Amino acid sequence: MRIVMTGATAGFGLYAAERLLASGASLTIGARNPAALPQSLQGRISALPLDLDALANVRQFAAELGEGPIDVLILNAGLQLAKPATSADGFERTFAVNHLAHYLLLRLLAPRLTTGARVILTGSGTHDPAEKTPVTPPVHADADRLAHPETDPTAEKGVRQACFRAYSTSKLCNIMTAREAAKRLPGIDVLSFDPGYVPHTGLGRDNGRIIATLVSLILPRLMKSDRTSTIPRSGQFLADLAQDTRYAGARGDYWSVRGPALIRIEPSTLARDDAACTRLWDDSARLVGL
Ligand SMILES: NC(=O)c1ccc[n+]([C@@H]2O[C@H](COP(=O)([O-])OP(=O)(O)OC[C@H]3O[C@@H](n4cnc5c(N)ncnc54)[C@H](OP(=O)(O)O)[C@@H]3O)[C@@H](O)[C@H]2O)c1
Repeated sequence: MRIVMTGATAGFGLYAAERLLASGASLTIGARNPAALPQSLQGRISALPLDLDALANVRQFAAELGEGPIDVLILNAGLQLAKPATSADGFERTFAVNHLAHYLLLRLLAPRLTTGARVILTGSGTHDPAEKTPVTPPVHADADRLAHPETDPTAEKGVRQACFRAYSTSKLCNIMTAREAAKRLPGIDVLSFDPGYVPHTGLGRDNGRIIATLVSLILPRLMKSDRTSTIPRSGQFLADLAQDTRYAGARGDYWSVRGPALIRIEPSTLARDDAACTRLWDDSARLVGL
């Protein structure tokens, strides 16, 4: 089984990659620094350079992967910024890295997916206002306004809120992309994954180590206990989603960690707006130059 993965070098994605290797899968990952892989991956995987900050890197990665068939595509990389930033292509960076780059990678690799292949996009419960997480929730999934927040009258003015909303909305886009991909890619299983809140990953690193550690210690106490997970638990669930026959036939389904279980639930009202999912797909295609 050949698996291609982003976000395998840290956090629960690293744990999932280790589990997938232990099961005998052949793993190719996109990594910002392939020369400095975590010890547990060294010599056991194929690592190609991929910084999702630039769409040219995504095209290069897809080309370097070669022509061989792909059985599983795991789009797990993600960032959460502390200060607004712009990607190499001039888009809001969170939207560019978390959504646009993965969208382009999916489109480029789709022809190489085997029949019955599986695609997993890591989303987040923060995408759903009904979850009432501490992260400012999305209000729309308009790709042009997300790419250029300075043109968005609904954009948050505060730095923290703007960064939080950019994050939750990028995760909404991952979930909507999974739903639309399931329609557009017949014969391919597509699903999205909410790992719950997973403390002690690198996600909050842009805030600095001290704040990130404090958040990891305090937030679990403020959240509903079944919404907090661990690196091994969410990592194992991600590995299961990639390989377990239980998840075969997924048509854009959204799987969420709840306490010790992974359950299939409905995503937010906006994520279930089929017309908005189609619009996001088409607008994203234009933005990435397809
Ligand atoms: N932790 C949570 O509570 C939580 C909750 C819901 C969803 N998620 C999602 O889960 C996924 C994994 O997050 P995590 O918590 O495990 O965080 P993490 O420890 O920071 O891992 C993030 C991964 O994404 C990679 N990455 C980040 N920016 C990249 C870029 N520009 N190009 C290529 N790779 C990049 C990182 O690579 P490097 O090693 O090079 O940095 C790392 O492998 C993300 O999509 C995140 O949004 C996390």
